[in-house]
Amino acid sequence: MKRDRYGAFITFEGPEGSGKSTQIRWLAKALHQRGFSVVSLRDPGSTTLGRRLRQALLHSQQPLTPLQEALLFIGGRVALVKERIIPELRKGKVVLCDRFHDSTLAYQGFGGRMNIAWLDRLGRRAIDELMPDLTLILDVPAEVGLRRLRHVPDRMERYGLAFHRRVRRGFHDLSHQEPHRFVVIDATQPAKIVQEKIRCIVSERLAGYFATLQRSR
Ligand code: TMP
Repeated sequence: MKRDRYGAFITFEGPEGSGKSTQIRWLAKALHQRGFSVVSLRDPGSTTLGRRLRQALLHSQQPLTPLQEALLFIGGRVALVKERIIPELRKGKVVLCDRFHDSTLAYQGFGGRMNIAWLDRLGRRAIDELMPDLTLILDVPAEVGLRRLRHVPDRMERYGLAFHRRVRRGFHDLSHQEPHRFVVIDATQPAKIVQEKIRCIVSERLAGYFATLQRSR
């Protein structure tokens, strides 16, 4: 599957309140202005099943174990990959995705104390190993991110500070395991500065990525 795609797949990760959605919106606009064909998706939420699962996972009163959460997030992601990500990559698009497999490892694995290696294997197999070309982690301390929230906290945001600190540490751990795929950006800086850094990193990677594809065709 990895060899059968021509677009570029970029994911955005980070603790609560890291500002991903705004940054993705700005980046999509900038890339579009430079002539790239871009699509922005979110996990969960960009398929019919994903929207239903998002509602159940974030807004139901029902308690769920980390295993139940992981299975639901992964199930939604299978649909996202099949219905949206693969078709868009095959059209040669730049796919920007708000969260992906790494969030399951950080939240259910590190936060929910599940076995990381097992969860990683399960999650990767479920999506046929379709991993991002680049993952940007917008990094903020858990307490800073949670303080930034301007809405009534959802089910995941209501987990305590200790949980969200484990999530942040989880993202750091993951970034050390795959230093080529991950770039960690300090998202406590002003949003415009964060955007400049994101644009620099993405431009450089996209230039390299599309040049390699041209050569291999
Ligand atoms: P969002 O509001 O940043 O889109 O994320 C939705 C929430 O779901 C957020 O609290 C992180 C959480 N989440 C997980 O716990 N596991 C996952 O696999 C994903 C994709 C999100």
